[in-house]
Amino acid sequence: MVRVLFVCLGNICRSPMAKAVFHHKVRAAGLEREIETDSAGTGHWHIGGPAHEGTLRILRQHNIPIDHRARQIDASDLEDFDYVIVMDEDNLANVRALGPGRATMRSLMEYALQTGVAEVPDPYYTGGFPEVFRLIDAATDGLLAAIRRDHRI
Ligand code: 4NP
Repeated sequence: MVRVLFVCLGNICRSPMAKAVFHHKVRAAGLEREIETDSAGTGHWHIGGPAHEGTLRILRQHNIPIDHRARQIDASDLEDFDYVIVMDEDNLANVRALGPGRATMRSLMEYALQTGVAEVPDPYYTGGFPEVFRLIDAATDGLLAAIRRDHRI
Protein backbone atom coordinates (compact mmCIF):
# COMPACT_ATOMS: atom_id res chain seq x y z
CA MET A 1 0.00 0.00 0.00
CA VAL A 2 1.29 3.43 -1.01
CA ARG A 3 0.12 6.19 1.33
CA VAL A 4 -0.16 9.80 0.15
CA LEU A 5 -0.83 12.80 2.43
CA PHE A 6 -1.73 16.20 0.96
CA VAL A 7 -0.86 19.16 3.17
CA CYS A 8 -1.83 22.86 3.18
CA LEU A 9 -2.21 25.52 5.87
CA GLY A 10 -5.81 25.30 7.06
CA ASN A 11 -6.82 21.87 5.66
CA ILE A 12 -10.10 23.30 4.44
CA CYS A 13 -9.38 24.58 0.89
CA ARG A 14 -6.42 23.19 -1.10
CA SER A 15 -5.36 19.89 0.48
CA PRO A 16 -8.93 18.54 0.86
CA MET A 17 -9.49 19.42 -2.82
CA ALA A 18 -6.22 17.71 -3.83
CA LYS A 19 -7.10 14.62 -1.80
CA ALA A 20 -10.60 14.40 -3.31
CA VAL A 21 -9.39 14.91 -6.90
CA PHE A 22 -6.49 12.49 -6.51
CA HIS A 23 -8.62 9.83 -4.80
CA HIS A 24 -11.20 10.15 -7.59
CA LYS A 25 -8.45 9.38 -10.13
CA VAL A 26 -7.13 6.50 -8.02
CA ARG A 27 -10.63 4.99 -7.97
CA ALA A 28 -11.09 5.51 -11.71
CA ALA A 29 -7.79 3.68 -12.28
CA GLY A 30 -8.95 0.78 -10.07
CA LEU A 31 -6.11 1.39 -7.61
CA GLU A 32 -8.07 1.94 -4.40
CA ARG A 33 -6.42 -1.07 -2.76
CA GLU A 34 -2.95 0.07 -3.80
CA ILE A 35 -3.03 3.80 -3.02
CA GLU A 36 -4.47 5.36 0.15
CA THR A 37 -4.92 9.13 0.50
CA ASP A 38 -5.50 11.66 3.27
CA SER A 39 -5.03 15.37 3.90
CA ALA A 40 -3.93 17.56 6.83
CA GLY A 41 -3.11 21.17 7.66
CA THR A 42 -0.07 22.67 9.34
CA GLY A 43 -2.41 24.99 11.29
CA HIS A 44 -4.85 24.03 14.03
CA TRP A 45 -7.66 26.57 13.53
CA HIS A 46 -10.14 24.39 11.65
CA ILE A 47 -9.61 20.99 13.33
CA GLY A 48 -12.81 18.94 13.07
CA GLY A 49 -14.42 21.35 10.62
CA PRO A 50 -15.68 20.76 7.07
CA ALA A 51 -14.04 21.82 3.81
CA HIS A 52 -14.50 25.42 2.65
CA GLU A 53 -17.67 26.13 0.66
CA GLY A 54 -15.54 27.14 -2.35
CA THR A 55 -13.85 23.72 -2.37
CA LEU A 56 -17.19 21.91 -1.92
CA ARG A 57 -18.75 23.91 -4.78
CA ILE A 58 -16.01 23.33 -7.34
CA LEU A 59 -15.87 19.62 -6.53
CA ARG A 60 -19.65 19.40 -6.90
CA GLN A 61 -19.37 21.08 -10.32
CA HIS A 62 -16.95 18.35 -11.38
CA ASN A 63 -18.95 15.50 -9.80
CA ILE A 64 -16.12 14.61 -7.44
CA PRO A 65 -17.20 13.34 -4.01
CA ILE A 66 -15.62 14.61 -0.79
CA ASP A 67 -15.90 13.45 2.81
CA HIS A 68 -13.75 15.65 4.98
CA ARG A 69 -13.02 16.73 8.54
CA ALA A 70 -9.97 18.95 9.01
CA ARG A 71 -7.03 17.71 11.03
CA GLN A 72 -3.54 18.93 11.86
CA ILE A 73 -0.40 17.14 10.67
CA ASP A 74 1.98 15.77 13.29
CA ALA A 75 5.39 14.11 13.27
CA SER A 76 3.91 10.59 13.15
CA ASP A 77 2.46 11.37 9.69
CA LEU A 78 6.02 11.66 8.37
CA GLU A 79 6.53 8.01 9.38
CA ASP A 80 3.10 6.72 8.41
CA PHE A 81 2.93 8.16 4.88
CA ASP A 82 5.15 7.41 1.88
CA TYR A 83 4.52 10.77 0.21
CA VAL A 84 3.80 14.12 1.87
CA ILE A 85 2.69 16.52 -0.86
CA VAL A 86 2.54 20.20 0.07
CA MET A 87 0.87 23.10 -1.72
CA ASP A 88 3.48 25.82 -1.17
CA GLU A 89 6.90 26.65 0.26
CA ASP A 90 5.48 27.76 3.62
CA ASN A 91 3.83 24.35 4.02
CA LEU A 92 7.15 22.66 3.17
CA ALA A 93 9.04 24.69 5.80
CA ASN A 94 6.38 23.91 8.41
CA VAL A 95 6.38 20.19 7.61
CA ARG A 96 10.19 20.01 7.63
CA ALA A 97 10.15 21.65 11.09
CA LEU A 98 8.29 18.59 12.42
CA GLY A 99 11.43 16.48 12.00
CA PRO A 100 13.03 14.17 9.43
CA GLY A 101 10.59 11.26 8.99
CA ARG A 102 10.77 8.73 6.17
CA ALA A 103 8.18 10.22 3.81
CA THR A 104 9.17 11.65 0.45
CA MET A 105 8.30 15.37 0.69
CA ARG A 106 7.39 17.18 -2.51
CA SER A 107 5.56 20.27 -3.64
CA LEU A 108 2.47 19.32 -5.68
CA MET A 109 3.27 21.63 -8.60
CA GLU A 110 6.54 19.70 -9.21
CA TYR A 111 4.23 17.19 -10.90
CA ALA A 112 2.91 19.74 -13.42
CA LEU A 113 5.99 21.66 -14.55
CA GLN A 114 4.23 22.41 -17.85
CA THR A 115 1.99 24.89 -16.01
CA GLY A 116 4.98 27.07 -15.10
CA VAL A 117 3.36 27.53 -11.67
CA ALA A 118 5.49 26.65 -8.63
CA GLU A 119 2.87 26.81 -5.84
CA VAL A 120 -0.86 26.26 -5.44
CA PRO A 121 -2.08 29.74 -4.42
CA ASP A 122 -4.23 29.99 -1.29
CA PRO A 123 -7.87 30.58 -2.34
CA TYR A 124 -8.89 31.32 1.26
CA TYR A 125 -7.76 34.87 0.64
CA THR A 126 -8.34 35.22 -3.12
CA GLY A 127 -11.43 33.10 -3.79
CA GLY A 128 -9.62 31.64 -6.80
CA PHE A 129 -11.06 28.16 -6.48
CA PRO A 130 -11.43 27.46 -10.25
CA GLU A 131 -7.75 28.24 -10.86
CA VAL A 132 -6.73 26.12 -7.86
CA PHE A 133 -8.83 23.26 -9.24
CA ARG A 134 -7.14 23.59 -12.64
CA LEU A 135 -3.66 23.39 -11.07
CA ILE A 136 -4.58 20.52 -8.77
CA ASP A 137 -6.19 18.60 -11.65
CA ALA A 138 -3.02 18.92 -13.77
CA ALA A 139 -0.62 18.07 -10.95
CA THR A 140 -2.57 15.08 -9.61
CA ASP A 141 -2.36 13.53 -13.09
CA GLY A 142 1.42 13.88 -12.90
CA LEU A 143 1.56 12.61 -9.33
CA LEU A 144 -0.49 9.51 -10.10
CA ALA A 145 1.66 8.76 -13.14
CA ALA A 146 4.85 9.16 -11.07
CA ILE A 147 3.58 6.86 -8.30
CA ARG A 148 2.45 4.23 -10.80
CA ARG A 149 5.87 4.35 -12.43
CA ASP A 150 7.83 4.27 -9.14
CA HIS A 151 5.79 1.42 -7.66
CA ARG A 152 5.01 -0.45 -10.90
CA ILE A 153 1.25 -0.37 -10.31
P1 4NP B 1 -5.92 26.19 2.92
O1 4NP B 1 -6.47 27.69 3.08
O2 4NP B 1 -4.55 26.17 3.54
O3 4NP B 1 -5.87 25.97 1.45
O4 4NP B 1 -6.92 25.31 3.64
C1 4NP B 1 -6.56 28.35 4.32
C2 4NP B 1 -7.62 28.10 5.15
C3 4NP B 1 -7.72 28.76 6.36
C4 4NP B 1 -6.75 29.68 6.72
C5 4NP B 1 -5.68 29.92 5.88
C6 4NP B 1 -5.58 29.24 4.69
N1 4NP B 1 -6.86 30.38 7.93
O5 4NP B 1 -6.00 31.24 8.22
O6 4NP B 1 -7.79 30.11 8.71
